[in-house]
Amino acid sequence: MSYKNQNVLTRTFGKEVHQGLTAFPKYLSSKFFYDAIGDKLFQQIMALPEYYLTDVEYDIFNTHKTDIVKGFDKEKEGFDILELGAGDGKKTKLLLAELLEKKYSFVYRPIDISENAISHLVRNLSSELSGVSVKGEIGEYFEVLDRLNHISKKRKVIFFLGSNIGNLQHPKAIEFLKKLNSVMHQDDILFIGFDQKKHPQKVLDAYNDKTGITEAFNKNVLTRINKELNGNFDLDTFIHWEVYDPETGTAKSYLVSTKKQTVDIDCLSLQIHFEPWESIHTEISQKYDDNTVNWLAEESGFKITGSFTDKDQYYKNYVFKK
Ligand code: AVI
Repeated sequence: MSYKNQNVLTRTFGKEVHQGLTAFPKYLSSKFFYDAIGDKLFQQIMALPEYYLTDVEYDIFNTHKTDIVKGFDKEKEGFDILELGAGDGKKTKLLLAELLEKKYSFVYRPIDISENAISHLVRNLSSELSGVSVKGEIGEYFEVLDRLNHISKKRKVIFFLGSNIGNLQHPKAIEFLKKLNSVMHQDDILFIGFDQKKHPQKVLDAYNDKTGITEAFNKNVLTRINKELNGNFDLDTFIHWEVYDPETGTAKSYLVSTKKQTVDIDCLSLQIHFEPWESIHTEISQKYDDNTVNWLAEESGFKITGSFTDKDQYYKNYVFKK
């Protein structure tokens, strides 16, 4: 496979892999975990007992669904619910069912770059919640948001769940929120989940499961380099390593080389040298408190008009308005 002939996304992959592995210290972006295999591994992670985030957000929706949807303002005529990053819809379904029961008029538009994820979700929702009008949108978040703003003047309620924001470092998160703010109108709502700071061991366990699924998820970026860029990473010579800094609230994932070695990546005409115990930083999963969320909201032009949490305050969903 020649580097020149690959599609745009693969070219971005190659470019960023080149940048990250020739930098010091080495890094790779966690956005590259997600291909068909990575998506499946992430589904498995969400079902792990250690990975509390999904269950807790589900519980918050279940407990507070009446008040959550009340905030979406029934009196105003129909609106679109846009969900950024579709997932399997398990949590969202709770809110959609509540909206349906309370006779809100809305169209649910899950947005994802993966056509596969969207068609799965649309099929699943049509059979499980037949009263909901679902229109899957395939594309990058902002491209779709922009496009929809041009097509329809309808009010928008935007869901950004699962603490996906936590995979962005603060400056990137602010850039993302600012951009969202710029495509939102005065009456639009951003309903967004932030995983909260908690006992450090609880966080560490969530990213260090005994079954090794998180390890496989982390290593999937190496598998992708091997497959898509003709690399020869030996996955058994790297270990998954997780650290959590309770001061900053940042959980960080690494892949650590257990020996001195050289890896070839043919499509990039690149040889990467690893010293024993040298690391590749692959992901951050930021944990928050109210002060930090207030600061992020302020920096990006939002005000927080409500929030919902669980009994342990492990996780919080916030209502952001312009
Ligand atoms: C998608 N994202 C919010 C997950 C997280 O918690 O950072 C991805 C993940 N990484 C390891 N486990 C789950």
